[in-house]
Amino acid sequence: MNTESPIGIFDSGIGGLTVVKAIQAALPSERLIYFGDTARVPYGPKSQVTIRKYAYDDIAILMRYQPKMIIVACNTVSALALDVVEKASGSIPVIGVLKAGAELAVKATKNSRIGVIGTQATVASNAYACAINMLNPEIEVVSKACPLFVPLAEEGFIDHPATKLIAREYLTAIKKHGIDTLVLGCTHYPILRRVIEETIGHGICIIDSAEAVALRTLELLTESGEFNHHRRTPAPHLLVSDLPQKFSLIYQLFMNSDLPDVELVEV
Ligand code: DGL
Repeated sequence: MNTESPIGIFDSGIGGLTVVKAIQAALPSERLIYFGDTARVPYGPKSQVTIRKYAYDDIAILMRYQPKMIIVACNTVSALALDVVEKASGSIPVIGVLKAGAELAVKATKNSRIGVIGTQATVASNAYACAINMLNPEIEVVSKACPLFVPLAEEGFIDHPATKLIAREYLTAIKKHGIDTLVLGCTHYPILRRVIEETIGHGICIIDSAEAVALRTLELLTESGEFNHHRRTPAPHLLVSDLPQKFSLIYQLFMNSDLPDVELVEV
C-alpha cells in the first residue's frame, strides 16, 4: 500500500455516488474504487443478519484492490455492520457516513431538535439518535423511515411528481416537531435533495454527511502521510453486481460526466 493506492468506497447502489462526488471535489487526485451492490439493493428493508452478510461480501470485493482506506458510503451498513467492515479491513482505516453526519448535525442545530430520515433498518437501529445523544444528550431526535426514496433515486426520478407526492407524505409529520436541522441519513437521499428541501421548507438546515466524510478523509490521509500529491484527476474505477449499463447511465446523469465504463463483478 502507498500514496497511489485507491480509496475503496461502497454502497448498496448509486447512493454512495453522493460521497464520490464530495471526495472528488475535496481530493481530486485520489484514485477511487467504487462498488455498488446493484444486484441486492435495497438494503434498508432487510434484516440485520442479511445486511451484515452483504457488508462482508462488499468489503471482500474492495479488499482485492488493496485500498489504503475504506469509506462506508451507506448509512444502513454504517448503522448495523460497521464492525464487520472494520474487522475485514484489518489495519486499513474505515470511515462510516453515520458518525460524520451525526457530528455535523449536532454542530448545526440551534434549537436542539434534529430530524433524521433514513432506511427502515437505519431508523429501527436508533444508531443516529445514539450517536447524536453521545455528543449531546439534551438533543431531541425525531426519526422517520423513507424507504421509497431509494427506488426513486435509483430510477433517476430527481424532480418527478411522484417524488414530490411521496416526499409530502413522509415529511409532513416530521416537520410538525419543530426541527431546525434534518439529516439525510441515507446516501441515496441527497440525489433527491431539491424536492426534500422544498417539501420540508427552506428554513431547515439539511445535513448531507458526504462533505463531512470528505473532510475526515482528507484529515486522515494527511495525518498518515498517504495523501496522493499527483496533479491529475483519475476517473473512478466503477464496479457493480448487476446492470452495469443502467448504472453507467445514472452515473452520467448524476455526476454530469461522460458515459463511464462499469465493470460487472460477482458477489
Ligand atoms: N444508500 C444506503 C444508505 O445510506 C442504502 C439504501 C438501501 O439500499 O436501502 O442507507
